[in-house]
Amino acid sequence: MSIIFNKELNIFHIFNNEISYYIYLNENGMLTNPYFGKRLDDIDIDSIFDISHDWQSHYFDNEKKEEGELKNIQFNSSPFIAPTSLAYDTRHNFIEINSEKGSRLDFRYISHRIYKGKPQFDVLPFVRDEDEEANTLEFTLKEKQKEIYLQLSFTIFSDLNLIIRNTKLINKENSSIYIRRLDSLSQDFLRNDFDIIHFPGEWMLERQLCRESLEKGEKCIVSRTGRSSHENNPFVILLDKDANENYGEAYGFSFLWSGSFRFDIESSLTNVTRLTLGLGEELNFEVKSNDEFLAPEGIMVYSPYGTGNISRTLHDLIRNRIVKEANEKVYKEILLNSWEGCYLNFDTKTVLDYLDSAKLIGTKLFVLDDGWFGKRDTDDRSLGDWFVNESKINLDLVIEKCHALNMDFGIWIEPEMINQNSELYKKYPDFAGFLEHNESFLSRHQQFLNMGDDNCVDYIYSELEKLLSTYKIDYVKWDHNRIINDYYAKNLDIKNQGEFIYRNTLGYYKLIKKLREKFPKIHFQGCASGGGRFDLGTLFYFSDIWTSDENDPIQRLFIQYGTSFIYPFSVSGSHVNDNKITGFKEKCLIALFGSYGFELDPRKLSEKEIEEIKEVNEIYLKYHNDVVLKGDLYRLLSPFDMKYFAIDMVSKDKSKCLVLFSNLLKKGRNRFYLKLQGLDKNKSYKNSLDNKVHKGEFYLNVGLNLSKRLEEFETDLIVLEEA
Ligand code: DGJ
Repeated sequence: MSIIFNKELNIFHIFNNEISYYIYLNENGMLTNPYFGKRLDDIDIDSIFDISHDWQSHYFDNEKKEEGELKNIQFNSSPFIAPTSLAYDTRHNFIEINSEKGSRLDFRYISHRIYKGKPQFDVLPFVRDEDEEANTLEFTLKEKQKEIYLQLSFTIFSDLNLIIRNTKLINKENSSIYIRRLDSLSQDFLRNDFDIIHFPGEWMLERQLCRESLEKGEKCIVSRTGRSSHENNPFVILLDKDANENYGEAYGFSFLWSGSFRFDIESSLTNVTRLTLGLGEELNFEVKSNDEFLAPEGIMVYSPYGTGNISRTLHDLIRNRIVKEANEKVYKEILLNSWEGCYLNFDTKTVLDYLDSAKLIGTKLFVLDDGWFGKRDTDDRSLGDWFVNESKINLDLVIEKCHALNMDFGIWIEPEMINQNSELYKKYPDFAGFLEHNESFLSRHQQFLNMGDDNCVDYIYSELEKLLSTYKIDYVKWDHNRIINDYYAKNLDIKNQGEFIYRNTLGYYKLIKKLREKFPKIHFQGCASGGGRFDLGTLFYFSDIWTSDENDPIQRLFIQYGTSFIYPFSVSGSHVNDNKITGFKEKCLIALFGSYGFELDPRKLSEKEIEEIKEVNEIYLKYHNDVVLKGDLYRLLSPFDMKYFAIDMVSKDKSKCLVLFSNLLKKGRNRFYLKLQGLDKNKSYKNSLDNKVHKGEFYLNVGLNLSKRLEEFETDLIVLEEA
């Protein structure tokens, strides 16, 4: 059993071998979280909560007509799990509503249940538990003076050091209420001596590692773009000030959601911290009488051993319980994408010629990117017209040739978008998610659809269903090239426009869900102008995501390093282009740490370049599956220190290891030893640097001697294999 309720003490203990999460229910029905951390079997609530000044704990009891005192509660510093009322807590709330009975909220315990399994949903993404491994504690809380209920649940798995939170609001009032905020996570800490790590970015510079001290006041990390965004990623780590990759306490937070989001992290003068994560600021959602509202599923990871462990926990979670791979074969194939090779300028002959040359670099999957549909010769038209431009490309011929060359075939789409210059817009202008008279701004000449309108989703589905049933397509790259702002849903009343982003994001999920059900073998790759929608919600439906439009290998080191804090390389699309900064071998080695492929004109490759590529392809075929796709990642040296980049990845059985090392400095004369991690200290490994065999403990404690290898921007891959 991993959830215990101690009735006498009113304490719930959620735990596995490594972690404990305690919930204390006081006599007034308030729920607090006295402890979240390393496994702890003995807890004393009074000694945690007694701070010997209590004026903040008094209230006026309406029934008894006298003052009451809340035991073990201090309004401004208690660790509430459902902080709901400004009346007793001036820190930010995790829920805010408007209703005919006012906006004040005060939720108290009604009941709880403990069960095997965990919540799952029809459309909203969730952590999968097909084997019913999880245990869940679910509370029902009621607002003291209104018929509004909250269902809060906490789920734990025995082999993952994390807690999953779910939140549902049920409106049993006789009239609608309007939710302005309902967060997925709310975590209070009885301390505020933290650093914070987050991942700001921009187009072609996604998820840049940023570590700073958490100062007093409120820090907000948001996306206001209708998608999880290039600008910020829905992932934050709070950690000890002296914590690093391998040492110190660290807590990671994220949720399964692809729309706008908002983290508020508040460090108070009372020396406590409150972190919340939820839907974006635009929310104003009407919940009718007897209806419910679901917040996206939230995740809180804990590591007593620094940030590396946070990442490895999340990588396992994502690979085993979030992503559901449709087509194992396609997933592991070397890919060639046409985009950077020819952009929109191709015809049937160009593509057929590409295929001949693609064969030479080991391509097993060819993806025809943007430009094959409608009248799409320039990027200001045809989004929405998902039928083949037969005067430009003979798709049958292309697919036939792919198959003859033993390659699979993939195609690009951007289903949530529309150009005003399109057949779709002429036919169904009301599907557009904006008001025409606003002269709304275009981005890349395009606008977006209102995916919250089921008629629009059904129409796009039927067009894509036709396409995917007519042609033998194994892989779909699904793009999203503008942010959602200035929106207006023509199918909603004015008072309901604050529902746009939530409904639009659900529409995105509904469309991909329907397509996946109809075409269970097609591999769907997510993309949003590169990595503008890289999140756990997308990964529930897509097997991998295009990491960034930046293919420069050195810039990529930074992007891939930042991305790896939450997302495993197996879900991170990574291609080699013909940028001239480094040689092909280097570019390929860096791209190898992701779902691997090329994005170039293969006809232009020299024989020498083809040879370099083939050399790396051999490593790919031998090690990529066990080590990169399925193994454990150890970050050794951060490129953000502007000297070196180094990681190693070790197969789960610890028999193989790949070390990727890049030098960002001019050649130096210094000695340089790279200590590895993750190996079995007792196993013997042969390394490809000097072909010697050493015990794991040698590599862990002495390291690889890289003193001879310090050319600027040089990248090398060293293979270790059990001898
Ligand atoms: C943006 C994507 O990130 C690129 O890879 C490419 O697919 C273009 N869109 C096509 O328009």
